[in-house]
Amino acid sequence: MEFYEVIEKRRTVRDFENETISADVIERIIEAGMKAPTNDHMRDWHYIIIQDKNIIMKLLDIIPKGISDEDMNQLIKDWNLSDSEQQDCYRNAVPKQYKMLIDASVIVIPLLKQKTDLLHPDNVSHLNGFASIWCSIENIFLASTAEGYGCALRVPLGDESEHARNVLGYPNDYFMPCFIGIGKPKRNAPVIKQKDIQMKERIHWNKW
Ligand SMILES: Cc1cc2nc3c(=O)[nH]c(=O)nc-3n(C[C@H](O)[C@H](O)[C@H](O)COP(=O)(O)O)c2cc1C
Repeated sequence: MEFYEVIEKRRTVRDFENETISADVIERIIEAGMKAPTNDHMRDWHYIIIQDKNIIMKLLDIIPKGISDEDMNQLIKDWNLSDSEQQDCYRNAVPKQYKMLIDASVIVIPLLKQKTDLLHPDNVSHLNGFASIWCSIENIFLASTAEGYGCALRVPLGDESEHARNVLGYPNDYFMPCFIGIGKPKRNAPVIKQKDIQMKERIHWNKW
C-alpha cells in the first residue's frame, strides 16, 4: 500500500472479525513499531503479544463491559463534550471498550522504561519516553493498516495498569501507555467520521 493511502486508511476500528493473524505478520508490525523515533536513542521498549484467550480474558476482566444510556448521557455532560461529532465518537467508543479488545485477534501491550515519575514530571523532557512510545504505537497502527488489519486502543483507567502488571508480570520500572487490539475489521464496521479540518486555517507560514 502506498504511504499516503496507509495514512488515509488508518482509522480506529472497534469491531473485529473472528480471525487469527499469523505470528510473522504480528512480528513485522511490531518491528515497524520498534523503528519509531526515540528520545534517548535506546528504544527501551518491550511489547507483550497476547493471543491466549484465557490470559486476554483475565487481563480485560477489569474493563467495564458496557454503559447504560443514562450513564453515557451523564458522561457526555461531565466531560463537556459539546461537539456533536465528538459525541458520536464517544457514543460509539465508550460502550465498546471491552468488546473491541476481547474480539481483537491479538492484544499488544507496549511497555516503556520510565525513569522518573511520569505523573509528576519536573519538566517537559521527563515526558520524552512517553512521547516516544506513542510514536511506536502509531507505527504499529500504520503497519497494521498496511497489512490489511485495523487497531483499537484504550488508555488504562483506574487500577487497569496495576491489574495488567499482575496478570502479565512485567517489571515495576516499565509503564504501560495503552492496550492495543489488532484484528480484521468487520465488514460494515462503523468508522466514525474524522472532523473536517480546513488545513489553510491550521498551517501558519512564517508566523501565526
Ligand atoms: C492518546 C489517545 C488516547 C486514546 N484513547 C482511547 C481510548 O481510551 N479508547 C478508545 O476507544 N479510543 C481511544 N483513542 C482513539 C481515538 O478515539 C481516535 O483516534 C479518534 O476518535 C480519531 O479517530 P481515528 O483514529 O479513526 O482517526 C485514543 C487515541 C489517542 C491518540
